[in-house]
Amino acid sequence: MATVTASLPLRAAARAGPAPSRAPPSDAAFFPGRPWQRGLAARGRPREPAGWFRAEALSGGGGGGPPRREPMAPPYNVLITGSTKGIGYALARKFLKAGDNVVICSRSAERVESVRNDLKKEFGEQHVWGTVCDVREGKDVKALVDFARDKLEYIDIWINNAGSNAYSYKPLVETSDEALIEVITTNTLGLMLCCREAINMMWNQPRGGHIFNIDGAGSDGRPTPRFAAYGATKRSVVHLTKSLQAELQMNEVNNVVVHNLSAWHGYD
Ligand SMILES: NC(=O)c1ccc[n+]([C@@H]2O[C@H](COP(=O)([O-])OP(=O)(O)OC[C@H]3O[C@@H](n4cnc5c(N)ncnc54)[C@H](OP(=O)(O)O)[C@@H]3O)[C@@H](O)[C@H]2O)c1
Repeated sequence: MATVTASLPLRAAARAGPAPSRAPPSDAAFFPGRPWQRGLAARGRPREPAGWFRAEALSGGGGGGPPRREPMAPPYNVLITGSTKGIGYALARKFLKAGDNVVICSRSAERVESVRNDLKKEFGEQHVWGTVCDVREGKDVKALVDFARDKLEYIDIWINNAGSNAYSYKPLVETSDEALIEVITTNTLGLMLCCREAINMMWNQPRGGHIFNIDGAGSDGRPTPRFAAYGATKRSVVHLTKSLQAELQMNEVNNVVVHNLSAWHGYD
């Protein structure tokens, strides 16, 4: 996939601030003082109201007594899947530049180590951590949560960026089993495993959290000839996000919000 320099301003989407109404706030309210981030706000927001970014964080998991509230405030703890190159890496740099703490990961231990070392040199020892995680493996994703808890205690922003097109551009009838399995397990199963673990982690956090699912070509319903499988998986990202928003709303979980994020807009 193409490597791009992304400036996806997810950071500010997690900014605390009272939002008692169910109406979507204006972009300016979300990104005060940062005009370059406002365009992304709309794309990063849930496409259907789901508690509309209640910035208050309620303690999750039920239990008696009033919920413990803790506002989200920077610096944020951010976890980005598939962040050793491309958009994930660009995002990691952007958050680090803003002073946040970042957990990076990918399938290659070598790449994680080398990218982490480079980022540590630039942004300091205590801001970036890295671990191996194949998002298609449930045990890896659980281990990623354990790693993040161990290093940072909680995660404010979890970005599901890891994705694959298997570098395959041909009609479906010519596409190999391996390419189909790679695309579908990464973009669909991997995303579901990550959302499940991220929600489980975040609703027990007093600060709650925001999960961003990166979509892509096909997510708007338009055909994607020569990468039909990829387009179908990206279309499903939109559906998954909406269903998770509905599930959270159904369970009155107000402190975790799932968003779709379009990575093809808003580059620097
Ligand atoms: N590039 C674009 O123009 C574009 C446009 C719209 C949407 N997107 C979406 O944006 C996201 C990133 O795209 P990109 O172009 O930046 O991709 P990329 O350059 O190919 O980078 C993908 C990253 O994900 C990691 N990765 C791949 N499979 C993984 C897995 N199973 N588990 C964990 N990490 C994995 C890769 O590292 P390892 O190989 O070491 O695991 C790498 O760090 C994808 O979801 C893509 O669909 C991209």
